[in-house]
Amino acid sequence: MRLLMSHAMVVVSGTKIAEEIGTSRSEVWRLIQQLRALGVDVAGHPATGYQLRAVPDLLLPEMLAASLKGTIFGAGKQIHHYYKIGSTNAEAMRWAGEGAAEGSVFLAEEQVAGRGRGAHSWHSARSMGIYCSVILRPAMAPSDALIFSLAAGLAVRAAVAEIAPQFVADLKWPNDLLLGGKKFCGILTEMNAEATRVRHLVVGVGINVNQVKFPAELREIATSLRMETGTEWSRVELCAGLLKSLDREYRSLVEDGDARAVIVRRFEESSSSVRGRKVTIEENGGLAGVTEGLDERGFLLVRTAEGLRTVVSGTVRLL
Ligand code: BTN
Repeated sequence: MRLLMSHAMVVVSGTKIAEEIGTSRSEVWRLIQQLRALGVDVAGHPATGYQLRAVPDLLLPEMLAASLKGTIFGAGKQIHHYYKIGSTNAEAMRWAGEGAAEGSVFLAEEQVAGRGRGAHSWHSARSMGIYCSVILRPAMAPSDALIFSLAAGLAVRAAVAEIAPQFVADLKWPNDLLLGGKKFCGILTEMNAEATRVRHLVVGVGINVNQVKFPAELREIATSLRMETGTEWSRVELCAGLLKSLDREYRSLVEDGDARAVIVRRFEESSSSVRGRKVTIEENGGLAGVTEGLDERGFLLVRTAEGLRTVVSGTVRLL
């Protein structure tokens, strides 16, 4: 793929490809068939050579690296790209457990076991969305982790607004991003921690970008940027914007003592439901009440018949 991209629109002989990647011409043919099965538009056959007809919007490290210079995801950091994987979060957690550096990035074209919050899965159709997980190693207590997840939501919102300023996403606590009342992005933050110290965090972001339809069970609740805007989006551009934006949020959180309060305030300002909305919370013993903003660690405050309650987890249903 890399070789064809560096000769995009040019016919490259099977022999040259075989020489450059150190394999046989018949193996090249097999690899080209695999690329086609993945949706890459390659013309030609062994006798004529091969030609990449269009530069595909694949989340390859070399497509992102230039934009990430100077960020925690930049030079010297590893960007892992998979055409098909179970879950980028599971993969990142595994690598983090084996000592992978902060700032390592895991991207997939397709996930077959994409994980959502709680017992949910994440629908991850091939090359339609962004499925991205990053490893972070902030020095903090596990009870402070939520703020990183909220900051990731703000980072996605900023990245979308940079490309399409007219589309302002609504944040739904803790980690959903909505357009027109439907969800287009979810964030799953997982961690490995001692009682008082986080060893590593994995922040996983799933963004529905170019989907034009969803399975029946998601149709009423899910949307994509393409479905909302009517145009196809460059996943590479959005992913670069997301990682730059995540870098800004993360640095300010670890470097600036006031950043937590600022994130909480910005989250409140970017959410139509975090204050003054009637809600029910599915977990937490099933409480119902009216939202009253976030506390200093980012937990949701709900005024119930029994008084003010702090919601630390669970799914918020808007009434
Ligand atoms: C949710 O809203 O339930 C969270 C969804 C998080 C999905 C992303 S896609 C990339 C990363 N890998 C996973 O398996 N899950 C997250």
